[in-house]
Amino acid sequence: MTRQANMIVDKAFKVAEVDKRLYGSFIEHLGRAVYDGLYQPGHPLSDAAGFRKDVIALVKEIGVPIIRYPGGNFVSNFFWEDSVGPIEKRPARLDLAWATLEENKFGLNEFVAWTKKVDSKPMMAVNLGTRGIADALNILEYCNHPSGTKYSEMRKSHGVKEPHNIKVWCLGNEMDGPWQIGQKTMEEYGRLAEETAKAMKLMDPSIELVSCGSSFRDMPTFPEWEATTLEHTYDYVEYVSLHQYYGNRENDSNDYLAQSDDMEDFIKTVIATCDYIKAKKRSKKTLYLSFDEWNVWYHSNAADADIVKNRPWGIAPPMLEDIYNFEDALMVGLMLIVLLRNADRVKMACMAQLVNVIAPIMTDAKGGAAWRQTTFYPFMYTAKYGHGTVLQPIVNTTMHDTAKHDEITDVESVSIWNEATAELTVFAVNRNLCEDVQMQIDVRGFADYVLKEHIVLAHSDLKATNHSAKESVGPAFSNQSKLEKGRLTSLLHKASWNMIRFGKQS
Ligand code: AHR
Repeated sequence: MTRQANMIVDKAFKVAEVDKRLYGSFIEHLGRAVYDGLYQPGHPLSDAAGFRKDVIALVKEIGVPIIRYPGGNFVSNFFWEDSVGPIEKRPARLDLAWATLEENKFGLNEFVAWTKKVDSKPMMAVNLGTRGIADALNILEYCNHPSGTKYSEMRKSHGVKEPHNIKVWCLGNEMDGPWQIGQKTMEEYGRLAEETAKAMKLMDPSIELVSCGSSFRDMPTFPEWEATTLEHTYDYVEYVSLHQYYGNRENDSNDYLAQSDDMEDFIKTVIATCDYIKAKKRSKKTLYLSFDEWNVWYHSNAADADIVKNRPWGIAPPMLEDIYNFEDALMVGLMLIVLLRNADRVKMACMAQLVNVIAPIMTDAKGGAAWRQTTFYPFMYTAKYGHGTVLQPIVNTTMHDTAKHDEITDVESVSIWNEATAELTVFAVNRNLCEDVQMQIDVRGFADYVLKEHIVLAHSDLKATNHSAKESVGPAFSNQSKLEKGRLTSLLHKASWNMIRFGKQS
């Protein structure tokens, strides 16, 4: 049987405008993300402030418009006051989430300054683990109030005259998780988040708030957690969070790549739960989704457990340093397609994380330059060209079964029409690992468009990785696409990520 995928892409079938914050990322005080990642005073590639210039260049290249900070699990015992003011006066603290020593040499104001250097914006999380309403208000006042109050004047005394005006705030992190410092029951979190949100909006009504969802889809309390907590927070927040990591733990690549269907199912269930609460409250407001932690994470699990058990309280130990292979890049491409297809409700998403910690960008631990992991490429291209209106794909593709998933499509895809630049971009992953797929796309609705390029990420070895000295997995131009009379035919190589771009002839 010839493997096939047939699609019709038309301007009339609009899903939604892509919110550029769908391409967000995340920096946590964890491992070498901050220290030896963004910040390394004395490194030959660092600037006067200690920021790594090579890292800044790669972060700009990958393109992340919003970055969540400072955690993650770290935030649940974060004392923000320790991270501001003269560096030499800042105290060192034990980070209980990751069993490391946090020296607070890089903190809130350094992070905001750094986001400006990478053309991004901060998304701040407050500590609802060991702290509560008063401290959420204090940090908000420090960050967003112009002057004349205790914490705004404290900020000014730290040399930051203008308020940071941070727009997006997360109400805690993974508060349902037993691993979380200050874990809460649904009722406890719902009430605390409701009152914190109410008070934060009284102080600054312009902010947007994210209510904490389940830590992942298989949590025993999912989706009851969402239903119960949103009963409390619905009127005060704009988003509910989703977190999910995947991995090829059983070394079954077929089944691994089918897991992006689970992500879609997760999103649909959260949407249904939000809409249930909307109906229950007779509310006119629609809640949106912030998928603010997603990625592949499993390669480093054993090494991390060893560090925590046998070498705790180190400074910036090499934790969560997953080295990604080619199939992980396919998985990241698939997850991005799922996020885009749900762009009507998923408005923000953060690939977790950005540098050194489960990251597309790594720095060489021996002092060399920063380098790109395999997963860098699908993210970078999607973040660069995935802007405009998502068009409803009408796809008919051959299917296959995997160990735990039935009727898995060979091809996963999404199309985005950027009216402003007159470009149409199709992202497609052939997740059939054994056979190429003949793809046909009817683009007759874009009569004046020509084929611009077909970029492919393919490799004969699913386990191929990149390193500081050698890039084995990288993008290439494909000559396997042809456009004739409004119909595109493309050969999608088995196990490949593809980007096909059309545009008006210049
Ligand atoms: O991103 C790593 C960790 O994963 C985060 O700290 C936590 O929120 C999640 O469990």
